[in-house]
Amino acid sequence: MAESTLDLRHAPKDRAYPQLHAHLIGVLAGIDDDIAGMATMSSLVHHAFGHLWTGFYRTVDAGLLRVGPYQGTVGCLEIAVGRGVCGAAAAERRTIVVPDVERYPGHITCDPRSKSEIVVPVFDRGGSLIAVFDIDSTRRAAFDQQDAAGLERMVRWFAGEGRG
Ligand code: SME
Repeated sequence: MAESTLDLRHAPKDRAYPQLHAHLIGVLAGIDDDIAGMATMSSLVHHAFGHLWTGFYRTVDAGLLRVGPYQGTVGCLEIAVGRGVCGAAAAERRTIVVPDVERYPGHITCDPRSKSEIVVPVFDRGGSLIAVFDIDSTRRAAFDQQDAAGLERMVRWFAGEGRG
């Protein structure tokens, strides 16, 4: 099956996210596999918006996140829950938007070109945290509440929304 990758870098976010969401659900139709979902979501979001780094950290042990499928330069392999932006989003089970990573105490630098970041928690059907979805940009203040809403809706696929 040939799948296209959307380029939404110049589209307003209120149009980009619904379009990307519909595309993602279409591409994942018939797939019931978290890793395939993470890989596909990373690729589509990364290339649609031209981000620096887009990917997942999975909860592998109590208190530990390990890198999962991603797009971009080599990411940190493991992050303790509670540390950095990813660890904070996991511990607090909420989306964190960081407009300027240099002003976020405890930010973990994987790539010095990263200037802003958003991390969205990912839950399964039972409401357990299974991962966080982390995106980095080379631009300051690249992410806002529209990104949070669009990405939170997207990761509800892992809780069964639009899946199967
Ligand atoms: N900056 C993140 C670490 C992961 S990398 O950005 C890929 C953090 O502070 O949790």
